[in-house]
Amino acid sequence: MRRYVFAGNWKMNKTVSEAVALARALREGLEKEPTPHEVVVMPPFTALAEVGKALKGSPIVMGAQNMHWEREGAFTGEISPAMLRDVGCAYVILGHSERRHIFDETDERLSKKSRAAFDNGLIPMVCVGETLAERESNRTLEVVERQVERALRPLKPEEVARMVVSYEPVWAIGTGRVATPDQAEEVQAFLRKRIAISHGDDAAEAVRILYGGSVNPGNTPGIMIQADVDGVLVGGASLKAESFLGIVQYRQEENS
Ligand code: PGA
Repeated sequence: MRRYVFAGNWKMNKTVSEAVALARALREGLEKEPTPHEVVVMPPFTALAEVGKALKGSPIVMGAQNMHWEREGAFTGEISPAMLRDVGCAYVILGHSERRHIFDETDERLSKKSRAAFDNGLIPMVCVGETLAERESNRTLEVVERQVERALRPLKPEEVARMVVSYEPVWAIGTGRVATPDQAEEVQAFLRKRIAISHGDDAAEAVRILYGGSVNPGNTPGIMIQADVDGVLVGGASLKAESFLGIVQYRQEENS
């Protein structure tokens, strides 16, 4: 059976006490009904240390939503990969479209960050995705190809095999407008082919490719049935235990 990844990106939500309460509720939910899949939560920086403690000894792993590429130094306002490791992060989201579009994250910085993640023992979850204008002008594949190529360029095949790529069409994020399963599969199969060309067949087969953008418990089964969907990256629906558990407790056999 494939081991899927269910990742919750909490974005700029939750105080420390709210974040700990959500982490505990998820932990209890998964203790009652365990899942064979990988569950990842990504709280805001301020809550990482306490959520890390609340999840200690549980199967839920933690990630951060961004980082700087340097280990330490005069970079006011930034957080280093070593700091994320120190509080118990295993993953880090890189190149989320909100960072690309609101905070001018570039492909060049992203490639420094993906290298720095592995150099510091973190697994990057690299996000790619087209805007609505790019989709409507038939540039989707060209855009995601460029994004994935730049982010993965500094990585060795064995690193790519361990990482996560998340296809998140910008027009589907936070809009309630989810990509159709066929739209997701078309792009994700394409990404896997590009990765096979750049890093070899073994890396392409092992890399986990997620879909993100308006995922909820109702639309998860339709998305998950696709051959090149290895899980989901969830924003809004990961902020409540009930809806995130509804997504995580997805059963493959329910689909067939
Ligand atoms: P959403 O966000 O589920 O709220 O659309 C997804 C994401 O940005 O990762």
